[in-house]
Order: sequence, then structure tokens, then C-alpha cells
Amino acid sequence: MQEAIILVGGKGTRLRPLTNHTPKPLLSVAGSSFIRHQIAKLMDAGVEHVVFATSYLASLFETEFKDFTQDLAISYAVEEIPLGTGGAIRNAGNLLRGTDPDAPVLILNGDILSGVDLRALLATHRDHDADVTLHLTRVPDPRAFGLVPTDHEGRVLSFLEKPKTPEECVTDQVNAGCYVFRRSVLDAIPAGREVSVEQETFPQLVRNGSRIHGHTTTEYWRDLGTPLAFVHGSADLVTGIATSPLVGPPAEALIHPSADIDPTARITGGSTIGAGARIGPHTVIDRSIIGGGVTVAEGARVHESVVDHDSVIGGATILRQVVIGCHAHVGADNELPAQLRLACGIRIPAQGVRISGTAAACLTVH
Ligand code: GTP
Repeated sequence: MQEAIILVGGKGTRLRPLTNHTPKPLLSVAGSSFIRHQIAKLMDAGVEHVVFATSYLASLFETEFKDFTQDLAISYAVEEIPLGTGGAIRNAGNLLRGTDPDAPVLILNGDILSGVDLRALLATHRDHDADVTLHLTRVPDPRAFGLVPTDHEGRVLSFLEKPKTPEECVTDQVNAGCYVFRRSVLDAIPAGREVSVEQETFPQLVRNGSRIHGHTTTEYWRDLGTPLAFVHGSADLVTGIATSPLVGPPAEALIHPSADIDPTARITGGSTIGAGARIGPHTVIDRSIIGGGVTVAEGARVHESVVDHDSVIGGATILRQVVIGCHAHVGADNELPAQLRLACGIRIPAQGVRISGTAAACLTVH
């Protein structure tokens, strides 16, 4: 039986306030919670049992899957105190059903959207009789990542910290957050304490001469951990740049059938519109995620932004690369700057914020 572990216990701090009430893997991406895209991909690769390594808001995973009837067994390994990525893998290993110490166990980070062929990854692991096989992806600018150089046969040579100088950029291969572990190697990770698989387990395995293999691909890959990456990942799924068994043919937008869209609205760039949302006349929604029950009033423009459920965006307001928490109310004629995150439930009055030179008239009587 092919088994897998998905790491889903992180707090997702970079995606707050979206993750204040919802763990990152349960956020909606191209119309389904992200973890459902991963599960569909695992099932396509022949996985029959998956263990969720949970911690933050752990009970919400069981709620999400309580009615799950497809041909996949799901177990929940809950960490009372977060154990880090390595500790989480070790802890989840207790719930695996197989007993073969050489069995390959697939492990996915719960926030990576990737086109990697999981069957090919498993085949590489088998062909090289590896202890661990890592999916490695090539990035155009490796400075933001720890680097993973390999020899000409793909054997991992070392795990390097983020490079600070051009000379330190010895490779463009980075850890893509998807691994195959030999079961006995997984079981040898120290139990009951916090362990980072990236900083502790992998470097230690290389030092002690274990067979660590790299499976390098150039297929689509994106870490959805930041707001901009999150909206871009969702849009890429809708437009077909990235693929998931759960998303239909490429489209400009994914609109829930219960949403009310004015015919003059322009919804483009792979945007998604949630259930019961109301999108007013002459609005532009571009490469954005609009949650269920959101209202976007006449003439508003939303670019590369997330508006969480039940919020209101006033008429002629402009959002560009911002995140709006749920139940927020942004009045008319605002222009919010990039990188802004509005807390859940916050209210901004009409004409409260403007960043361009076209400021509205002063409301105060002098
Ligand atoms: P940030 O707080 O925004 O950095 O996000 P994060 O908490 O998700 O951290 P990060 O992106 O580094 O985590 C990578 C993956 O590991 C994600 O899928 C997390 O859910 C998962 N993860 C991180 N720490 C833990 C942990 O202590 N326990 C478990 N079970 N999973 C973890």
C-alpha cells in the first residue's frame, strides 16, 4: 500500500489574517481547499492512505473531511505542541499502516503547488535505492532559498544556507518541499521533540553518508506561503498554467454558480468568485480571489488581491496586492497600498485611504 504524509501543522503567519481562523492548507484555491488539490494528486499517484500531520487549528481538518467518501484512508496525527517539519514527519510515521522498513513514504509540504509527477519521483527513489529522495526545482533567482547541489548522478552533496554572494550560488536547485523517505530512515528521526527536516535531518543524513538523491525538474512550482504567491497560484490553476485534477479546462475566471455578477463587470486573469458574492457594475476583478458572500460595489477595481468571505468593497475603491480579512468593510473611494493586510472585521470609512495624487476633496468643514 502506498502511503503519504502531508505536513499541515504550520501557523501560516505570512498569510494572516486569512489564516487567523483557517489553516493555510484549508484556504480555498481555484475553488477547492488547497489540501483537496493535493489529495487528488496523491490519489492519481496511487496513494491509498494519507496521514495529516496537524497542529494549528487541528480539528478543522477532521471537520473538512468528515464526509469524505473517496477511496483514500485518512488519519490525523495531532501535535499538541508543534514539532517542526522533521518532528511532524516522525510523529505522523506512528500512524502509517505498513510495516516494511524499506517501504517508500511520500511526504508533501501542505503549501506547495507543483507539477511534479509523483510516480516519477517514486520511480527515481526506487531506481537509486535511496534513503531519501527530494524533489528539487530550479529557480531563476536562488538567493531567497537554501541550495541543494547534486553530483552528476543526482546524489545530494550538501544542504547550503541561503547564498549571500554570487559565488555562493553554486546551483539553482532548491528543496521543493516534497520527499520520499525510506520508512526506516523516517523512524530514525528523534521522537517527541522539535526537529527541522531542512536544517537538522537532511544535513545530518548527508554527513553520515546516507543515500540522499535529488529528483530535479523544471515543471511548474510555487510555494503558496505569501499573499502574492497565493493569489498567483490560484490564478495559475484557473488559467491552466498549473494543473490539478480538480480544476476544469483553462478559463479566465472561476465563478461560483450562486454568485451575482453584473454583465458589465470584467473578471479576468484567473480570478475566482465565491458562493453568493455580488460583483457590481463596471468593476474589474483581475487575478484575485473573492470569497463567498463578498460584495464589490460599482466601479471598484481589485488586482492581485484576496478579499476574504463576507467583506464589502465600496464603489470606486482600488485594491492592488492587498489582503482583506473576513467581515471587513472598506468604504467607497479608497485606494489601498500594496502589501496592506486588513484585519478581520475592520472598517475603513469612505475616502479614508488614498495613495495616488487624485485625493478626494477634504470632508472636514474648516
Ligand atoms: P509561515 O508561518 O507563514 O512561515 O507558514 P508555515 O507555518 O506554514 O511554515 P512553513 O511554510 O515554513 O511550513 C512548511 C510546511 O510545513 C507547511 O505545510 C506547514 O504546515 C508545515 N509545518 C511547519 N511547521 C510545522 C509543525 O511544527 N508541525 C506540522 N505538523 N507541520 C508544520
